[in-house]
Amino acid sequence: MAQINPSILSADFARLAEEAEAVRGSDWLHVDVMDNHFVPNLTLGVPIVESLARATDISLDCHLMIEDPDRWAPQYVEAGAGSVTFHVEAAAAPIRLAREIRAKGARASMALKPGTPIEPYEDLLPELDMLLIMTVEPGFGGQAFLDIMLPKIRRTRELIAKHGLELWLQVDGGVAASTIERCAEAGADVFVAGSAVYGAEDPAGAVAKLRALADGATADAWWACGH
Ligand code: DX5
Ligand code: ZN
Repeated sequence: MAQINPSILSADFARLAEEAEAVRGSDWLHVDVMDNHFVPNLTLGVPIVESLARATDISLDCHLMIEDPDRWAPQYVEAGAGSVTFHVEAAAAPIRLAREIRAKGARASMALKPGTPIEPYEDLLPELDMLLIMTVEPGFGGQAFLDIMLPKIRRTRELIAKHGLELWLQVDGGVAASTIERCAEAGADVFVAGSAVYGAEDPAGAVAKLRALADGATADAWWACGH
């Protein structure tokens, strides 16, 4: 079944615990950490992740859009994140970092900006629990989905199948009812949605609707057969 991870970037930051409750039924909550250096925006850091982890029983999927993740990412595991994603463009030693995240007890994930190809990282995939393909330039919610990322999603799914990996393939940016089926058909199985969930009247209902669309689009996909 497709996994929908609501992004609290589009939530009310003064009421994060209630906003987490509003998407009860989701397995994961997506937390966008930005440092105003790797991306031109500033959001939240370790203390807020720590508080949020205590305030909700939904697992936290921390997406680090920061410089020097080699130094900071392990602290997000200690803060209570169940999954930590670093950007390969910012990591000095991605293999060492993925191993450290796993050793500390979280799922290790690596993100690619739209202009970063997957092919140079093929050999690194077994070190990861999830790969994130950005479908907008990271930094802001509410941007338009980049259709031209679909071939990269497809090629990544083929690499995962070729190596027989249990790797989750996440997409983030502009995922909504109008775009999620294309992502699912291409090979994504984890979907981040910010404005499409928290901009809706009924956030939990929006999650259920997105999941149904993704499941429908995946039913006949070659890569999902036998899943
Ligand atoms: C953007 C963030 C996303 C953002 C997505 O840099 O990584 O997680 O919340 O927002 P939407 O779904 O509105 O594009
Ligand atoms: Zn994100």
